[in-house]
Amino acid sequence: MSASRARALLVVAPLLCCGPAAVATEQPATSQPSAAQMMDDLMYGRGSVGGPFTLTDQSGKPRSDTEFRGKLMIVYFGYTYCPDVCPTDLMAITQALDALGSAAEGVQPVFITIDPERDTKGLADYVSSFHHSLVGLTGTPDEIRKVANAYKAFYVKVPDERSGEYSLDHSGVIYLMGRNGEYLGYMPPQTSPDRLTEILRKNLAK
Ligand code: NI
Repeated sequence: MSASRARALLVVAPLLCCGPAAVATEQPATSQPSAAQMMDDLMYGRGSVGGPFTLTDQSGKPRSDTEFRGKLMIVYFGYTYCPDVCPTDLMAITQALDALGSAAEGVQPVFITIDPERDTKGLADYVSSFHHSLVGLTGTPDEIRKVANAYKAFYVKVPDERSGEYSLDHSGVIYLMGRNGEYLGYMPPQTSPDRLTEILRKNLAK
């Protein structure tokens, strides 16, 4: 491993959740840029983040980004089997929205599953255990990969040989999009509810 590669991994590591980041970055899937490249691009503001999508919500209804115009949009990529970081971040988002009171109506939280093969019927129950306005979105693996790439969101399956199942290494950043769908910025995984509230309040006041 070169020195610059080692540095890139060090920079990336804090932004990844749910498993050993280094394993994932060594074997990028062919259909996505490497985790290091996506995280670098995100951190240094290279290229665009976000874009149009039409996916399927937890009740089977098609949903597009354009229907959330006029609201701030929080976008989070994760999966319902995630043992730690996803539920922590979704709970922080929920607490931040609760803290906003009625102003939370100006914010649309969106959870996009990166595990559409397993997050089928369970998706509705999962999102309903967080904020009532949380929309859970799924699609074909290709559709999800396309949206994730547009957001520079990295994920890769990591097989668990003992159980025969798999987990996912993934970037767990929280994206904030503006009222016209424009990218405002991202918040790192495990941002506190207080900090999220503060950021949302500031952007709602604009
Ligand atoms: Ni996770």
